[in-house]
Amino acid sequence: MCGIIATVGRASAVPVLLDGLKRLEYRGYDSAGLAIVTDQGLALHRRVGRVRELSSGVPADLQSTVGIAHTRWATHGKVTEANAHPHLDGGSRIALVHNGIIENMGALKARLEADGVVFRSETDTEVLVHLVSRYYHSEDEAVTAGDPVAAVRAALRAVRGTWGIAVLFADRPDVLVAARNGSPLVVGLADGQSYLASDPHALVPYTRRVVFLEDGEMALIDANGVQTFQQDGGRIDSAVETLEEVWGDEDAGGFPHLMLKEIHEQPEALERCLSGRVIPETGTAHLGGMDLNPRDMARLSRVSLLGCGTAYFACQVGARLIEDLARVPAKAEIASEFRHRNPVVDPEALFLAVSQSGETADTLGAVREIQLKGGNVVGVVNVVGSSIARACGRGVYIHSGPEMAVASTKAFSNMVAALSVFTLMLARQRTLSAHQGVVYAEQLRAVPGLVKRYLADPGPIDELVKWVTDSRMVLFLGRGISAPVASEGALKLMEVAYVPCIAYPAGEMKHGPIALLEPGSPVIVVAPRDDVCDKTLSNLQECRARGARVAVIHTEGDDIGELADLSIPVPATGPFFSPLLTVLPLQLLAYRTGLVLGRDIDRPRNLAKSVTVE
Ligand code: G6P
Repeated sequence: MCGIIATVGRASAVPVLLDGLKRLEYRGYDSAGLAIVTDQGLALHRRVGRVRELSSGVPADLQSTVGIAHTRWATHGKVTEANAHPHLDGGSRIALVHNGIIENMGALKARLEADGVVFRSETDTEVLVHLVSRYYHSEDEAVTAGDPVAAVRAALRAVRGTWGIAVLFADRPDVLVAARNGSPLVVGLADGQSYLASDPHALVPYTRRVVFLEDGEMALIDANGVQTFQQDGGRIDSAVETLEEVWGDEDAGGFPHLMLKEIHEQPEALERCLSGRVIPETGTAHLGGMDLNPRDMARLSRVSLLGCGTAYFACQVGARLIEDLARVPAKAEIASEFRHRNPVVDPEALFLAVSQSGETADTLGAVREIQLKGGNVVGVVNVVGSSIARACGRGVYIHSGPEMAVASTKAFSNMVAALSVFTLMLARQRTLSAHQGVVYAEQLRAVPGLVKRYLADPGPIDELVKWVTDSRMVLFLGRGISAPVASEGALKLMEVAYVPCIAYPAGEMKHGPIALLEPGSPVIVVAPRDDVCDKTLSNLQECRARGARVAVIHTEGDDIGELADLSIPVPATGPFFSPLLTVLPLQLLAYRTGLVLGRDIDRPRNLAKSVTVE
């Protein structure tokens, strides 16, 4: 989603900005732009499409030591050059980039237009740059005129919404002003050069010394460092931190696409998540970062898991595990719904905020709502030091390593694995016997090897690809712990191949989706060996009886493949951990279908990796 990179100092700004934009590309975007201060004033370059198209339009001899740049993912206004950031004020003396949404844009725009301001875009952001300009340039504004921080502060007082902004002033090429409220920003500090980014990944080549801005904070950045302020007033002392786990450049490493590489990284990613945490000898698990003692766990009244997209489906798997194995009531909830329904937050409950990026605005919003209401929330996050990880202060890192393809694969598996470890820990401290604990711990520890074995010989996926490429709709079915796997499979095929899909709990199929079935309709049934497998097979038969073509993903060695038109066996594991195997053919199906259909696999249209708006 939208990304910001900015710099000020001795170095030439344009190469830093273009390089930073390339590092932000993985988040998903539709247009890009940059503004710098030159001898002639502000120079602005924007393009719809890729950063490489922007780069090719920027003259190589453009000299400047200060600039701001942005990748846009459209919210207000179509994907056009005029709507791309940066936006300029009327006199082209101030440039501004913005992540987030200005909610009272309508009223502010009407007021500015009544005062004669001419708008050049359809964006909410443009309101902000005109407001900053008013406070910076107007002689009526004695307190803020000529003062970059005061002008930005005054402008922000008028707006409602969320923002991470960087502001550039033509007559102050020595400084940048930044402000954060709901959209992450991090300042990078180096010798004689400073940076600002919405994602630490953009700073990797330049520095590891950073200052994270918090909501309600502003920063004045120059070549020698940063001064931070509360938005409503005084100076603050922000800690300079060192980025510990820094993700390097990610390329496809010999694979044709990042997505395929990440699918194949799952065995080692799972190993990283499980090793040292699952203790087969005692049938227990250890997650130090959760900071929960046995008494806390014994008292838990319930567990609520919150996430969006793929993370939500991982939450659904987690909830089933926790309730079934640890015997604690557990429920998954879509994070974007949570705070808008004025939830009752039980102080004896544990909330888990599950997110790959750690930046998803809806999940972060849910965390803040829980904290406001006195609830106990911990993070289950991939990106170390991300907003959700920092807001929770405690939790589990899923350790899947960098996931750069927009469609999540290895992060899903590691979320499920981390939630499985948590479940084992909780279960052993409540009802699970040592004997059973040992069985589950051994099953979990064996999973990475089984994943590796499956990926080496994944079965007739290409046959299934043929079924779905031209299909009007694909139905995915699963029961119990496999219902969220079916949902994740459908999501993946929609995201990567743009094939319309519906996922249903298998038993619910006869209450609606069955009406869609006609001869040849593809149906994919997830039916590993467990105590609901037989019931799922009845639903499979119901589909076949209506002429549907049915593929079944099942445990190898079971003869249920014979009941379907296509059988895709996966290695056997315990019933609780089957999602870590059954999801694999569905990931490969999405990838290979996207490939056959010529889709932009790693950057599917309209999607973003890190969704930092609500
Ligand atoms: C976006 C991504 C999905 C991801 C979801 C939640 O929609 O495209 O792949 O599952 O956000 O992201 P998170 O970083 O919170 O796991």
